[in-house]
Amino acid sequence: MIFHTVLIVLLALVAGQSAAQSYYGPEDPRIEVAVTTETPINGVSTRPGGRLFVLYARVDGSSGPQVVEYNQTTNETVPFPNEEWNSYAPGKNPATHLVRTNSQRIGPDGQLWIVDVGSPGFGEPVILPEGPKLVAFNLTTNEVSRVYPMGNVTRSMSLLDDVRFNLASDKAYLTDAGRPGLIVLDLASEDAGRVLDDDLSTRQYLPMEVSPNGKWFYYQPASGGFSRIETRYLDNAFYNSSLNSNAILGQYVEPFAHTPSTGGTAVDANGNVYDSDTDSQRIIKIAPNGTMTTLVQDPRLLWVDAMWIDTQQRLWMPAAQLNRGIPFNNGTTRIVKPLYVYTIDIGVGPPAIDHA
Ligand SMILES: *[C@@H]1O[C@H](CO)[C@@H](O)[C@H](O)[C@H]1NC(C)=O
Ligand SMILES: *[C@@H]1O[C@H](CO)[C@@H](O)[C@H](O)[C@H]1NC(C)=O
Ligand SMILES: *[C@@H]1O[C@H](CO)[C@@H](O)[C@H](O)[C@H]1NC(C)=O
Ligand SMILES: *[C@@H]1O[C@H](CO)[C@@H](O)[C@H](O)[C@H]1NC(C)=O
Ligand SMILES: *[C@@H]1O[C@H](CO)[C@@H](O)[C@H](O)[C@H]1NC(C)=O
Ligand SMILES: *[C@@H]1O[C@H](CO)[C@@H](O)[C@H](O)[C@H]1NC(C)=O
Ligand SMILES: *[C@@H]1O[C@H](CO)[C@@H](O)[C@H](O)[C@H]1NC(C)=O
Repeated sequence: MIFHTVLIVLLALVAGQSAAQSYYGPEDPRIEVAVTTETPINGVSTRPGGRLFVLYARVDGSSGPQVVEYNQTTNETVPFPNEEWNSYAPGKNPATHLVRTNSQRIGPDGQLWIVDVGSPGFGEPVILPEGPKLVAFNLTTNEVSRVYPMGNVTRSMSLLDDVRFNLASDKAYLTDAGRPGLIVLDLASEDAGRVLDDDLSTRQYLPMEVSPNGKWFYYQPASGGFSRIETRYLDNAFYNSSLNSNAILGQYVEPFAHTPSTGGTAVDANGNVYDSDTDSQRIIKIAPNGTMTTLVQDPRLLWVDAMWIDTQQRLWMPAAQLNRGIPFNNGTTRIVKPLYVYTIDIGVGPPAIDHA
């Protein structure tokens, strides 16, 4: 997801000349092309009726909307929710525009949730207090239904990354990759608090998932190694400042799986976590007991970013080629167009706690 992911991982990997492609084996015939695109896509989400929303990562130097609705019949795109929200420029109100979108996903309530970093460009300071926010859009009206300001829990160099939900406790969890830590957001009151700030386990961009029963919060630094902690400790730390110290809360963090560096994750209704291995063009499947197997490996899976599972039991894999983008190649792009979003049948749908 995002530039930051890539930057951190690439700083480690490019140094070793290993960032790009290492797998040149045969293509896997189970993989299907869902979207062909001229602009890198690093996030997708779907509704059961067939609506598809995509996030453009404009690391190819292109300009235009970041969030669009994509019609799979006509292949036409429309800015979501409209052109104006997608047209932030200096002088415009950062509270009513998407300054820079880092992730988007349909939540368990059927709304489209967009994470706005709040900084206009990669590496530029966050516009405080109104830039960083989580915005919910009603997909019946295609209008904003609620804006959750994040200005009180972010700082100038914060990079709001992604969001997951735990409806049982009416909380959302967000990651901050710029000023590393987790943010717990109470959805009813809009109160937000930081936990595990700058803890060893959170010191990087963090893919995360919540288990289907809401018990576990899984997270892993981009460089690898999944951890887990029970969501109740995160939720309690939000209310109990004695618990909210890394020394105390850190005691409840457990190792989960020895994954390599990743671009993004997804979780299915059976609690399996899918993890994109950007070094070797494969998707790793992690069972709830932490056992890892390879779901698929294919030379076309070039930097698969945030993944998605739809009700037709398909795993969506946007091959974003982020590592070939301008921020990571001394100002030039090595992206090979067109790019593709792939799907593969995994025989299981998403957990209700995540989305329909
Ligand atoms: C839309 O894109 C798909 C997959 O990329 C392609 O197979 C199809 O022919 C396109 N349809 C139209 C109407 O352009
Ligand atoms: C895609 O466009 C076609 C033709 O305009 C329309 O009939 C269809 O409803 C659209 N699909 C979605 C999911 O909006
Ligand atoms: C979305 O808007 C529709 C129409 O106004 C309303 O019935 C529905 O409750 C809204 N959904 C949410 C999740 O707020
Ligand atoms: C930040 O916190 C202050 C004090 O609690 C509150 O008055 C203000 O509305 C909050 N601002 C945002 C953007 O949440
Ligand atoms: C707050 O957390 C501390 C440390 O875990 C614990 O000892 C204390 O009982 C908690 N307080 C409440 C009210 O739960
Ligand atoms: C872990 O789960 C997998 C998948 O359900 C199963 O095949 C394997 O036997 C389990 N391993 C252990 C050590 O329980
Ligand atoms: C960028 O340029 C520097 C200095 O010329 C060089 O050391 C580095 O390898 C280049 N990086 C990439 C990704 O091309």
